[in-house]
Amino acid sequence: MDCDVRDLGLAGQGRDRIEWAGAEMRVLAQIRERFEKERPLEGVRIGACLHVTTETANLMETLKAGGAEVALCASNPLSTQDDVAAALCDQSGIDVYAIKGEDTETFYQHIAAVLDHRPQITMDDGADMVKVLHSERTDQLEEILGGTEETTTGVIRLRALAEEGKLRYPIVSVNDANTKRLFDNRFGTGQSTIDAIMRSTNLLLAGRTVVVCGYGMCGRGVASRARGMGAHVVVTEVDPLPALEAAMEGFRVMPLRDAARVGDVFVTVSGDTSVIRREHMEVMKDGAVLANSGHFDVEIDKAALDDLAVEKRRIREFVDEYRTADGRRLHLLAEGRLVNLAAAEGHPAAVMDMSFANQSLSVEWVVKQAGSLRPAVYPVPAEIDAEVARLKLRAMGVEIDQLTPEQEEYLRSWESGT
Ligand code: ADE
Repeated sequence: MDCDVRDLGLAGQGRDRIEWAGAEMRVLAQIRERFEKERPLEGVRIGACLHVTTETANLMETLKAGGAEVALCASNPLSTQDDVAAALCDQSGIDVYAIKGEDTETFYQHIAAVLDHRPQITMDDGADMVKVLHSERTDQLEEILGGTEETTTGVIRLRALAEEGKLRYPIVSVNDANTKRLFDNRFGTGQSTIDAIMRSTNLLLAGRTVVVCGYGMCGRGVASRARGMGAHVVVTEVDPLPALEAAMEGFRVMPLRDAARVGDVFVTVSGDTSVIRREHMEVMKDGAVLANSGHFDVEIDKAALDDLAVEKRRIREFVDEYRTADGRRLHLLAEGRLVNLAAAEGHPAAVMDMSFANQSLSVEWVVKQAGSLRPAVYPVPAEIDAEVARLKLRAMGVEIDQLTPEQEEYLRSWESGT
């Protein structure tokens, strides 16, 4: 294969870990079995820019089982699992361009290497591949049937592109499927973010104050899991509705300027830029930990932190200690990049199962619809969303009730009331 990975010698370890994750991805496994028989993606070239993890490996192998030719690069310079990249290259017939810790130049070279395979379908997590196609590779746009987008930040960028009338092919917003957003964003980000903070710092969270900036689905997950660990949780928000929900959920809600003084651990999950700024850092407690779980490393103002610090050192893997002139230590995790993928392993496989079931079925849908969709951002078809929920329940061994004919009739009627 044509690959750029850290060390092919890691392939054996990667294979074991891919298999371990695969055992938790029972919905995806069923799709894979069907794909093996029906080959709905025969000969289709897919270019994927996703976090290169054990879960993504299972997705790539599912697409391959469906007959696709797949090339893969990383959607974040720090999220690649090098052993997984090696295993996919060595044993799965997938061209992989991803090395954990790659610099920005290499990151974009890797996207270019995937685009050199002239994909007909793109799969993005953050819309970087779409951005390159629409700016530097416009000659390839004609060949593209459609794409998928995995995450909130990517969907926001795609909608901005569509709003300007510049989006050139149809893309399915996998992120917005109920069986993705309500589970991956909440339970996945919640658990993996706390996991990453604990792995990188080994801090006791019980009794500490954790400040969660942003109360979207990801913020909800982080706040609820931090509370589960015994932390006092403060939520900061800019939107009145989620702020109200957080308040009624029992979290303390306050502006970041006040939260900055009381927090021990700060987690940004807002999707916006410059959330934690110099004015906040100036009043933080000695020892404060700053982590970001949003897609891009823009939520914590790293330049301000550099500016404020008189000394900086790496005190533990994934922990940079910034010492201020007044002697306080502020600790930035994973260089402000998404902490759950950089300092831990990302969301657990059982939840990625649903996200990636949506991904593979959406790719199949785009290929089937080829030519009939205009350039726009499409929701995951409701039947796919419902099917993923049904299959996941079955895989979990959970049964549910059915409406009786009388209940169905009642729901159709308007006559009977008080
Ligand atoms: N995004 C969040 N967690 C992930 C994982 N485990 N694999 C791929 N993408 C992810």
